Amino acid sequence: MSKPLTIADLKTRARRRVPKMFFDYADSGSWTEGTYRANEEDFSKVKLRQRVLVDMTNRSLATTMAGQDASMPVALAPTGLCGMQHADGEMLAAKAAEEFGVPFTLSTMSICSIEDVASVTSKPFWFQLYVMKDRDFINNLIDRAKAANCSALMLTLDLQILGQRHKDLRNGLSAPPKWTVHHGIQLATKPFWCMDMLRTKRRGFGNIVGHAKNVSDLSSLSSWTAEQFDPQLSWKDVAWIKERWGGKLILKGILDEEDARAAAESGADAIVVSNHGGRQLDGALSSISMLPRIVDAVGDKIEVHLDGGIRSGQDVLKAVALGARGTYIGRPYLYGLGAMGKAGVTTALEIIRKEMDVTMALCGKRDIQTVDRSVIAETRF
Ligand SMILES: Cc1cc2nc3c(=O)[nH]c(=O)nc-3n(C[C@H](O)[C@H](O)[C@H](O)COP(=O)(O)O)c2cc1C
Repeated sequence: MSKPLTIADLKTRARRRVPKMFFDYADSGSWTEGTYRANEEDFSKVKLRQRVLVDMTNRSLATTMAGQDASMPVALAPTGLCGMQHADGEMLAAKAAEEFGVPFTLSTMSICSIEDVASVTSKPFWFQLYVMKDRDFINNLIDRAKAANCSALMLTLDLQILGQRHKDLRNGLSAPPKWTVHHGIQLATKPFWCMDMLRTKRRGFGNIVGHAKNVSDLSSLSSWTAEQFDPQLSWKDVAWIKERWGGKLILKGILDEEDARAAAESGADAIVVSNHGGRQLDGALSSISMLPRIVDAVGDKIEVHLDGGIRSGQDVLKAVALGARGTYIGRPYLYGLGAMGKAGVTTALEIIRKEMDVTMALCGKRDIQTVDRSVIAETRF
């Protein structure tokens, strides 16, 4: 098989290797998937200014995100069930990110636990928190993240109620998979995935099993969310979580200027302009189309990050040009992980880095810190 050259190549390979229910779990958005598609498509509407005869030597993509050094303005987004794309997926992805010098964010709904990831990394990673009704459990999660030396807490604000993804319901998604004929056929056709999965004991929700009380049906993400996530989450909760955590706080899921202003006033360190990868409010605008407005509203008060639809290094450069200090990738690294394990995550990061570096040079810039709206071309036909 030839070397993957694009994120789309990794996606093709992941589709071949990962059982349908888990591949679909990554490659889906809510309802019509309109926002999921818009996240990707709107990047192609942003055009770049080609410059010539400028010195292109000694280029640098290095930056910081929420105070942490990053070899390029890209972090791995939190993704639930990452360890179902590949056995021990979160541990592999965290190691790949550490070696590459970019932040890794572990989801609350991960398969490998906070402690698992801490056991294979030597630098601090970030932890993403979903707030549940059981506040003892949340306090305990925060304490576990502190004990694991996590250097930032990312609080997700846009999933107190789960958006419906038709594919997950049709596939009967669960972790671990249920032993039905339908699932058995899906697994039987993916022998390499199964062999890896049989070698690990991490097949349930590692942060939750054995830590949360009254968990009735943990295998079903939707029933767990409906039962446990707190639909009354408010800005007051952000204040107590900030206080309880006491470290860098990143608020994820801001897509509106008014919410961005409230986030800036909350004292958080950064916001992520995000619609959860088109998995929550279908019909919401794409992240990249909202970014300039949010940067104009709060860019001088709080660090602004973006995720959703990034499929190339060009997309990262466009987001940085429009005011994002950093970006996150979700599916691009999940496809790499599903396709090739840790090497696939590294490949995804390498593809993005190379595309970003060449694009930056051809736009006449040598340092990512100097990339601003001047690299964006106005279209006039
Ligand atoms: C399979 C999958 C699982 C996700 N799980 C979580 C999660 O547990 N917590 C969270 O805050 N965001 C979650 N997200 C959203 C991502 O953090 C991120 O916002 C999104 O993937 C960015 O879009 P992209 O996939 O187009 O890069 C998930 C996304 C995907 C694709």
